[in-house]
Amino acid sequence: MNLLSFAKVNLFLKVINKRQDNYHNLETIFERISLADRIIIKPRKDLLIKISCNDKAVPRDKTNLCFKAAKLLIDEFKISKGLNIKITKRIPVGAGLGGGSSNAAAVLMGLNSLWGLKLSQTRLAKIAARVGSDVAFFVHDLPFAQGSGRGERIKPLNALKKAKLWHILIVPKIHVSTPLIFKKYDHFSGLTPHLPNNSISNGLKTSNKKEGAGLTKPAGNVKLLTSVMAKKSRSYSLFKPGLLFNSLEEVTLRLYPEVKRVKNTFLQLGLNSVLMSGSGSAVFALASSFKNASKLAKILRKKEKTWQVFVVETV
Ligand code: C5P
Repeated sequence: MNLLSFAKVNLFLKVINKRQDNYHNLETIFERISLADRIIIKPRKDLLIKISCNDKAVPRDKTNLCFKAAKLLIDEFKISKGLNIKITKRIPVGAGLGGGSSNAAAVLMGLNSLWGLKLSQTRLAKIAARVGSDVAFFVHDLPFAQGSGRGERIKPLNALKKAKLWHILIVPKIHVSTPLIFKKYDHFSGLTPHLPNNSISNGLKTSNKKEGAGLTKPAGNVKLLTSVMAKKSRSYSLFKPGLLFNSLEEVTLRLYPEVKRVKNTFLQLGLNSVLMSGSGSAVFALASSFKNASKLAKILRKKEKTWQVFVVETV
């Protein structure tokens, strides 16, 4: 079985609060983009799950999200089969592009079909959420979606059915740890776990400051961005500053000057819709056409040899 596994960017990501389970409630817009890994699944004679990958940064043991996804299905449905999963990576690792999550979703969907499990999308999404917060988005097979909760509660954005964006995407040579960025976010913003009103205090601090005190607040929200995007055809470079927003951007930019340099480079080139994806390190800019994006990408590749520069679109 030969599968394509696309990456995502977040066009909007607002941290709402910190939960008792130490995750954060989010409000986000996912966009699936045309940068993809390839995954080949082959049955094995024994009962092992073996992962192979061309990128050394990807773990091959049980911490690999494809491994976790396959193991969950095997255990849940008492399947006595083994697998070889070969991942050919193009999506940079630790970049906030959801590569590992997308790979896991591809395995879930692939095995659902290969093993004839006939699991509905709702059922698959529930299993996906146990693998990771971003996996459910990819299982829904949508170009754009709104995410809430940990990011695992997915709602299609029907107003964006016809929307298609072009991006220049830059990934500097930095692997960012998502748990670290959320931890630093808490630190910078003074967030403590949110306890429901009726819960009995068990010694945990119960204060729940909303959106980071010392951090920038969004100018818009999911609804506003969706309605602007639904109206404009492809002239997204005209977006007002602050409409695209990511609560984690300021945190990663403070910790990694190189990521800040990527953002500033885009701004100096005159691009004004520029945002970091997820917890970074990838930063993207909206471009008005493939031609414009390619022209700028060529300049950037010449200027910065250590950066990976991609031209991608919504898929
Ligand atoms: O769900 P996933 O395994 O992708 O999350 C990785 C880490 O990122 C979590 O362990 C948590 O530290 C952090 N995270 C969070 N809030 C979210 C999603 C992720 O704090 N909504």
